[in-house]
Amino acid sequence: MSKPQHEGHLGAVYSAKQPEEIAALYDGWADSYDADMSAAGYRHPSICTALLCRHLPRGAEPILDAGAGTGLMGQWLEILGYPHVEALDISKGMLAVARQKGVYKAFHQHALGGNLPFADDSFAAVISAGVFTTGHVGSKGIDGLIRICNPGGVIVLTVKGSLWESEFADHVETLEREKLATLEELTPLYVSMPDEEGTRPSRGVVLKIL
Ligand SMILES: C[S@@+](CC[C@H](N)C(=O)[O-])C[C@H]1O[C@@H](n2cnc3c(N)ncnc32)[C@H](O)[C@@H]1O
Repeated sequence: MSKPQHEGHLGAVYSAKQPEEIAALYDGWADSYDADMSAAGYRHPSICTALLCRHLPRGAEPILDAGAGTGLMGQWLEILGYPHVEALDISKGMLAVARQKGVYKAFHQHALGGNLPFADDSFAAVISAGVFTTGHVGSKGIDGLIRICNPGGVIVLTVKGSLWESEFADHVETLEREKLATLEELTPLYVSMPDEEGTRPSRGVVLKIL
């Protein structure tokens, strides 16, 4: 039996152009998202959570789950000893599913990539799985996360491998040159949805805020 291709919801969100379009598509996907991603063997949340545990002491708080979606990581972070995690996402429908899981301390419906509604140095860490990808958020989106993260804190994210090569690597080098952040860890390429035909590989990225 052949693997499912990037069709339906996934194909649509990858080809969306505007943030409003992305939000509407995820609103319509929210109820079946967890089951679909489970069927695709979705790995980003596991990789991100493992990286966070390697770079952030147990109990550090608060943490922002940026592009939290339906809250897959929120559930695991609570189990792993991070008591205060807040969810931010552009999609009201995805946040509504996350809310039902009862693990986040606050919810913010907002777009990454522009001004974020938080004071400087508000978070001990930011974690973001599956958001810095085709058609979603570009490398400049990292800048807003650096502003809201404490010096000494970490940003853990996944980046589509082709985007790492074409823009993120250069952007991170600039952040290092400007002494805003250091690249603490870059994983090898891995496939985020091994049971979905045509999934392009990604990398996990850990930045430390200076
Ligand atoms: C592939 S899902 C990942 C969700 C969750 N992190 C996970 O791993 O299951 C991408 C999420 O990013 C959100 N998203 C896309 N563009 C965004 C933006 N500009 N600002 C905030 N959230 C965005 C979508 O609404 C969606 O919930």
